[in-house]
Amino acid sequence: MDTPFSTLIRTASHEQHTEAETSTFMGDLLGGRLGVDAYARYTEQLWFVYRALEDGARELRDDPVAGPFIQPELMRVAELERDLTHLRGADWRAGARPLAATAAYAARVAECARDWPGGYVAHHYTRYLGDLSGGQIIRDKAEKAWGFARKGDGVRFYVFESIPNPAAFKRGYRELLDGVAVDDLEKQRIVDECKRAFALNTEVFRALGEEFPLSA
Ligand code: HEM
Repeated sequence: MDTPFSTLIRTASHEQHTEAETSTFMGDLLGGRLGVDAYARYTEQLWFVYRALEDGARELRDDPVAGPFIQPELMRVAELERDLTHLRGADWRAGARPLAATAAYAARVAECARDWPGGYVAHHYTRYLGDLSGGQIIRDKAEKAWGFARKGDGVRFYVFESIPNPAAFKRGYRELLDGVAVDDLEKQRIVDECKRAFALNTEVFRALGEEFPLSA
């Protein structure tokens, strides 16, 4: 395999990326056609997913495959909790419920964290590299649509305080992908899991779209 792994995984997930990016819910949300309650519900779903990602990270820190990807500056749970306090009030936890699609997504992440470090890398890539890329577009639109302070409470999830240069960080991340300590067959499995990760995200968007249909 001559193609760098970072290119392979990016190319292989390109089609699903377009699907996720152009989902009805995302379009309505970022088009400013939904209320802040839809944004809060989406943020709450992310909290369930990132808890699975970051609880799993603790166990994998010394793993030869997944360990190098686990970097404290990426961790998002504390930021999501601050956003949710802002969006829903101090007792937001009492009402937090995962959609069935979110529960399935978080369960798959937890399963990979427990049993399959390569699969965990696929989920890690799908979320964190996305947050460092398109996440910045989402932040900008959210600030404008619902009046959050720039990079303030409500959109802290999208602000990586300890990553001053996301482009450089992404280059470093791609180097980690290119050097991942697995054989070609395992790389293919990781690519397949990445496609699954995108599909799991799309399912969450679909469920959110059902919960927040546009009143035409
Ligand atoms: C409205 C929603 C979204 C927008 C506007 C968006 C936009 C973008 C943009 C502009 C990039 C940079 C591409 C480049 O570097 O050339 C990117 C990369 C990426 N996005 Fe998204 N995205 C969105 C949703 C998502 C979702 C839902 C996921 C998956 C959960 C995702 C995962 C990724 C990943 C993994 C990358 C990095 C690709 C790579 O360079 O390897 N994105 N996105």
